[in-house]
Amino acid sequence: MISLSDFNHQHTQGSLAVSVQNLGLTYTTSIDKKPTLKSRIKSLGRGKKHTRIVQALNGVSLDVHYGTVLGIIGSNGAGKSSLMRVISGIVPPTQGRIEVHGSVSTLLALGVGFNQAMTGRENVYLGGLAAGMSRAEIDANFQAIADFSELGEAIDAPMRTYSSGMFARLAFSVAAVVEPDILIVDEALSTGDAHFKAKSLNRMKELRTADRALILVSHALATIEDLCNEVIWLDKGKLMARGNPTEVIAAYREFMNVRKSASSDEDV
Ligand SMILES: Nc1ncnc2c1ncn2[C@@H]1O[C@H](COP(=O)(O)OP(=O)(O)OP(=O)(O)O)[C@@H](O)[C@H]1O
Ligand SMILES: [Mg+2]
Repeated sequence: MISLSDFNHQHTQGSLAVSVQNLGLTYTTSIDKKPTLKSRIKSLGRGKKHTRIVQALNGVSLDVHYGTVLGIIGSNGAGKSSLMRVISGIVPPTQGRIEVHGSVSTLLALGVGFNQAMTGRENVYLGGLAAGMSRAEIDANFQAIADFSELGEAIDAPMRTYSSGMFARLAFSVAAVVEPDILIVDEALSTGDAHFKAKSLNRMKELRTADRALILVSHALATIEDLCNEVIWLDKGKLMARGNPTEVIAAYREFMNVRKSASSDEDV
């Protein structure tokens, strides 16, 4: 078991936290389409299988250094969550290389390991153990996590009864207290209500230190611009742009307007 001292391991600002090279991820899903009479006759005797192949990531190369707050933007289905899953080690890439410098256990993807059938309390333990904390360390931090989440008695209810905002609250609270070296936040900030959103934004700002790398996926472009010092824009699994938040966000907005898909300034 990895001890909490690993979390306090000092990473120098500017040293490499995450490096991905020529990353590719292809999902192959067999589709259980309800056969129509026509298709059944057409595929009669051939046992035709329907498969859907999606190239979620295509030749993505990216370095993330300690001290960086990296924002990831792009339209629905662009591959943002897929990239986060690969970096977290949840999904192996189909192609390419991924390096995580620092202990992988310090890389905590919000709520990814939560079990819906278990209570919030049990999931705090699951999440903490997954992040490399010992049971004693979680015991010591449990109250702080529960308090930060402000879930009250719901902490002892099964997580399947949670609203998406409550789910995000607990996930964020575990991360906020654990203080990992590399923190990935995929959309959790946008599900909370105004009160929790402000509180978690403040916490994110506190976590923005030289020896930590933050990766933030969001459609809330103003938040990304406010928090990040670097932004990448993904589209159809490809890296479209990387650099200064204001410039990359402007390019993305323009692209979305060209596609006539943008309906509002925020939450594109
Ligand atoms: N488990 C999966 N099995 C099959 N296809 C998947 C799976 N997860 C994602 N995909 C596909 O991969 C592509 C990228 O999805 P992904 O979830 O990474 O997008 P995203 O950028 O996070 O979108 P959003 O903004 O909606 O969260 C989509 O075409 C999606 O349908
Ligand atoms: Mg996503």
